[in-house]
Amino acid sequence: MKICVIGLGYIGLPTASMFASAGCEVVGVDKNPKVIDALNKGEIIIEEKGLAELVSKVVKDKFLRGSLVPEEADVFIITVPTPITTQKKADMSYVISATESIVPYLRKGNLVILESTSPVGTVDELMIPILEKSALKIGEELFVGHSPERVIPGQILKELVFNSRLAGGINPISSEKIAKVYKTFVKGEIYLTDSRTAELCKLAENTYRDVNIAFANELAKICEDLNINVWEAIELCNKHPRVNIHQPGPGVGGHCIAVDPWFIVEKQPDNAKIIELSRKTNDSMPSFVADRIKRILSTINSPKVTILGITYKPDVDDIRESPLIYLIDILKKDGIKVSIYDPHVEKYDGNATDLITAATGSDLLVLGVHHGSFKELPFHKLAEVMRHKNFLDTRNFVSLSDAKDAGFSCYLLGNN
Ligand SMILES: NC(=O)c1ccc[n+]([C@@H]2O[C@H](COP(=O)([O-])OP(=O)(O)OC[C@H]3O[C@@H](n4cnc5c(N)ncnc54)[C@H](O)[C@@H]3O)[C@@H](O)[C@H]2O)c1
Repeated sequence: MKICVIGLGYIGLPTASMFASAGCEVVGVDKNPKVIDALNKGEIIIEEKGLAELVSKVVKDKFLRGSLVPEEADVFIITVPTPITTQKKADMSYVISATESIVPYLRKGNLVILESTSPVGTVDELMIPILEKSALKIGEELFVGHSPERVIPGQILKELVFNSRLAGGINPISSEKIAKVYKTFVKGEIYLTDSRTAELCKLAENTYRDVNIAFANELAKICEDLNINVWEAIELCNKHPRVNIHQPGPGVGGHCIAVDPWFIVEKQPDNAKIIELSRKTNDSMPSFVADRIKRILSTINSPKVTILGITYKPDVDDIRESPLIYLIDILKKDGIKVSIYDPHVEKYDGNATDLITAATGSDLLVLGVHHGSFKELPFHKLAEVMRHKNFLDTRNFVSLSDAKDAGFSCYLLGNN
C-alpha cells in the first residue's frame, strides 16, 4: 500500500512514520521546504518522544521520503492545520489547499482521509466539491471520510497505536476502507461511523475537556474569594465515585482544546451556550493571573516578573495558543518587565538561556507550566539573585515549603 500524507507536523509526521514502520511506502508532503529537507536527511524539526529515532530509521530503510508536492498513491491522508481566525472562526484554507493539491493525482479506487480536526460538514460540504473535480464518482470510485486524531503530544507514537479511533466515511464502504488502512498499525478499537458524526465526536471530546477545565477555573476564582484551597477542594470532590473535576490553571492553550469548541459555536451559536461561556472563562484566566501578579507587586517600583514555562502544556516545545504568551503580553502592556525561562522552547524572543539569568533582579517568580524539570527549583540559589523573593505557583506543582525555607513569600492560584 502506498500512502501520501499531506502536512508533516505534530500529527502528520508521526502518522507517516507509523505507516512506514509497518511496511507501507509513504510519501510525506509538506509545503515547508525545511520540513522536507530535514526529512530527507532522516531528521525532524519538532520535538516528540521517540520520533527522531523512528524517522531516522524509516527514512534510512527507504519506507518514508519527503516531497514538496503530492504524487499518485492508494491512500491520501490530510493532516494540515485547522486554526481559528481572530474572529474565532475556523480557518479552513489549509484543508482547502491540501485537498486541491491532491486532485491531479487521484485515481479510481483511491481513499482520501481527513485527519485534521474540522467543523461538522467539512468532508461533505467543503472537500467533496473539490474532489469531484477529479471526475471520479465519489463513494463508488473515490472513497472519502474523516478519521480524527486523539493523541496527546509527548505520547503520540504510543497513543497512535493503542488509542481507539473513529472511521467516519461518507458511506459504509468508505468507513470500512478507512478502518482497514489504520489496522496496519493501530491496536486500539476502530469504530465505524459516518463522517459528520466523526467530525462532531472529535469536537465534542475536546469541548468536554474545555468545559470541565472552565468549571475548575471558575471554582479557582470562587475559592480565592472564599479563602479555600481549590486544589484541596477538587481533590476531595474527586473522591466521589462519579465526580472527575479537571485541574485549574492559567488558561487553556494548544491547537486543540482552545480552538475546537469554537468550531461548534461557529455552526451552532444559539445552542452552544455553555460551550461558548467555557471558552470565554478559560480565556479570562491569563488576565485573572495578571491581576493577582499586580496585587503581589503593588508596593514594588518598576517590578520585574520571571515566567517559568511558556508552552501550553508540560514537557513539550509547543507554544500555540499558550495562555502564558497572553499573560506575558498583558504584563508587558501594563509596564511590568518580564523575563522568561523555558528549557523546552528553542526560539522565542526573550527566552533566557538558564533559570538564574532569567531570575536575576526579579521580584516575582511565576510557575506557568509544570515542566518536570521545574519540580525541584533551586530556591536558595534563586533567593540570592532575586530582588524580592516572591513565588506564585499557577499549577500547584512545587513544594511551597522549599520556597518558604529559602525565605520566599508564596502564593498559589485558587488559594488566597
Ligand atoms: N497536535 C496535536 O496534538 C493534535 C491532536 C489531535 C488533532 N490535531 C489536529 O491535527 C491537525 C494537524 O495538526 P498539527 O499539530 O500536526 O499541525 P502542524 O502545524 O504541526 O503541522 C501541519 C503541517 O502542515 C503543513 N501544511 C499546511 N498546509 C499544507 C498544504 N496545503 N500542503 C502540504 N503541507 C501543508 C505545514 O507546513 C505543517 O508542517 C489539526 O487539525 C489539529 O487540530 C492535532
